[in-house]
This record gives sequence, C-alpha cells and structure tokens, in this order.
Amino acid sequence: MQWRNTARRYGLVARFFHWAMFLLIGLTTFLALNIETMPEADRDFTTWLHRSFGVLIGGLLLLRVAWKLANPQPDDLPGPAWMSLAAHAVHWVLYGVVLVQVVAGITMSQADGATVGLFGLFDLPAFVVADPGLEAFCREVHETVWIVLTVLVIGHVLAALHHHFSESGEVFDRMGVGSPRQD
Ligand code: HEM
Ligand code: HEM
Repeated sequence: MQWRNTARRYGLVARFFHWAMFLLIGLTTFLALNIETMPEADRDFTTWLHRSFGVLIGGLLLLRVAWKLANPQPDDLPGPAWMSLAAHAVHWVLYGVVLVQVVAGITMSQADGATVGLFGLFDLPAFVVADPGLEAFCREVHETVWIVLTVLVIGHVLAALHHHFSESGEVFDRMGVGSPRQD
C-alpha cells in the first residue's frame, strides 16, 4: 500500500485523514447536539471534550491540506467535465466549511471567556478578549455552518454512491479503507 497518492488512488495518509476526520466530526457533532439535554453535571465536561475534538479536527485539517498540496492528485474519475469540476469544488468547500466551523468555535469560546485547548495537553493562546457581541455572532455562525456541512456531506456521499453504482465503480477503491484492487 502506497503512503502517497498515485494517479489511480489516494494513498494511505490521505485515506487516514479522510476517515479519521469523518469519525471525529461525527463524534464531536453528536456530543454537541446532546449537551442541552444531558444532566447539568455532565455539560461542562462534554463541552470541554467537544472543544478538544474540534481543536484536533482543526489541526488535522491543516496537516491534511498541506499533505494534499504536497501530493499528486488522483486522475479525475470517468464522467462529464462538469462532474469533475463539481467534485473538486465541493472538496475545497468542505475544507473551507470545516475551517470556518473550527475558527467560529474557538472564537466563540474565547469571546465567552473560556480557555480552549487539546484535552488538557496544552492551551491555545487567547486570540480574542471576552466580548458578548462577538460571542453571539460566532455562535450564530457555528449553529448555521454545521447544517451547511451536513448538507454538503450528504451531497458528497450521494455523489460517491452514484459513481460507485452508475459510473466506474472505482471510487471506493480510491478512498476506501480496504485493500485496493491490483493495478
Ligand atoms: C465529514 C464528512 C466528510 C468530509 C468532510 C469529506 C471530505 C472529503 C474531501 C475533502 C475529499 C477530497 C479528498 C482530497 O482531494 O484531498 C473526499 C473524498 C472522498 N470522500 Fe469524503 N468526506 C466526508 C465523508 C465521506 C463519506 C461518509 C463517504 C462515504 C460515502 C465519503 C467518500 C469519499 C470518497 C469515495 C472520496 C474520493 C473521491 C475521489 O475518488 O475523487 N466521504 N472527501
Ligand atoms: C468541525 C468541528 C466542529 C463541529 C462539526 C461542531 C459542531 C457543533 C454543533 C453541531 C454544535 C451544536 C449547535 C446547536 O446547538 O445548534 C456545537 C456547539 C458548540 N461548539 Fe462546536 N463544532 C466544532 C468545533 C468546535 C470548536 C473547535 C469549538 C471550540 C474550541 C467548539 C465549541 C462549541 C461550543 C462552546 C458549543 C456550544 C455548546 C453548548 O453550550 O450547547 N466547536 N458545535
């Protein structure tokens, strides 16, 4: 198995980033959506966990984009040019939306006077001072952007399934977690 991407498929590192981030984004969203309904005593810890997972996602995102830029990209899948263009555009928009979500989360928390860090290993510097207006604005952004992310991910999954069943059937060989077919 190749570490780096090839013209045929994503390498091991790109696959690791893709599926690790998918699991972490799912987990951190699940935690956040349950905070309001859980017992008061568990809320602070769950918010702390949610923030730490969010910071981890942000770090992985930066490494992932650096890795993407330093690697060849697999050739476009067979299909009309507009479909390849749409796939590339959605991939970059997904990166952008995750970044906005992380930045809004960190800014909202710091503007609320909270310390943001990674599971107690280290704290991030304070980028903003306490500011209720900024906190409210970033909360709005944070509460809206995860819905945008969810819609985009649903479109992305449908496109992958479409490719798998109607077009080349190769798409999960390129980004899947199993052993790739032989060239
Ligand atoms: C949080 C959820 C997800 C995000 C943010 C995400 C993001 C991305 C991005 C940015 C790429 C392009 C990779 C690159 O060029 O570096 C990609 C590729 C891909 N994703 Fe996802 N993805 C998510 C979930 C999923 C799920 C659930 C599936 C399963 C159906 C999936 C299937 C794929 C496949 C098959 C590719 C490769 C496309 C190709 O061969 O060109 N993704 N994803
Ligand atoms: C991709 C990463 C992230 C995702 C997908 C995400 C998702 C969410 C979701 C779905 C909510 C609930 C929104 C609602 O109730 O309508 C939420 C709330 C919240 N998020 Fe994030 N978030 C991420 C990153 C972060 C980061 C990095 C931080 C801060 C360091 C953060 C801090 C918060 C806080 C403080 C809340 C409010 C919790 C509460 O009091 O109910 N999030 N997030």
